Amino acid sequence: MRILHLYYSSTGNTQKVAETIDNTLDNLGHRVDSISVGKNTEAVDVLDYDWVFVGSGVYEWLPGKSMQDLFGKLRRKYVEDGEIKPGSPKRPDKKAVVYCTYGGVHTGINEAVPAVKYMAQLFDHLGFLILDEWYVVGEYVPEKMAPFSEKGRMGDIRGRPDAHDLNAVTERVKAILNV
Ligand SMILES: Cc1cc2nc3c(=O)[nH]c(=O)nc-3n(C[C@H](O)[C@H](O)[C@H](O)COP(=O)(O)O)c2cc1C
Repeated sequence: MRILHLYYSSTGNTQKVAETIDNTLDNLGHRVDSISVGKNTEAVDVLDYDWVFVGSGVYEWLPGKSMQDLFGKLRRKYVEDGEIKPGSPKRPDKKAVVYCTYGGVHTGINEAVPAVKYMAQLFDHLGFLILDEWYVVGEYVPEKMAPFSEKGRMGDIRGRPDAHDLNAVTERVKAILNV
């Protein structure tokens, strides 16, 4: 089973979740190709993999710019190669889990949903089964935004994701692999 993990983290929260996912997979005996997406990340061939985990922090309702750029490259490549087909026929045995970390200060989870749906669409277009979507709360790190972590729609989210959040991620990784 080949597993790919693509993630983007600007202020470190998604990085914590990503490391938890990787460590859990590792402890379960799986090898995972884990890529921290940056400005110049090349278009990795996601079709080489049976399982993909993909995650990002949410910024202005969407995944990070580097992630959007990578997804743009991949979408164009797979359209050109004829791998994105009308009707998006399912590819048996190809599965994706899409996740984000988000702060939700204004409208709660609603302002994170577009980011997850955005990332899921590439895999849906390619015929992957989107097995699950995970929304993990992450505090606002930049100093000028830090007050958002105390009084938003999600309540006091300082220090999130915390040990409890990361433990929940571990449990979800273990559970999803049995699907
Ligand atoms: C510039 C900026 C914009 C943000 N915009 C949103 C947003 O639109 N919706 C949301 O739920 N959270 C938003 N957040 C909160 C982040 O999604 C949250 O802190 C996340 O955990 C950041 O992930 P990272 O630490 O991996 O970069 C924003 C944070 C920053 C710094």
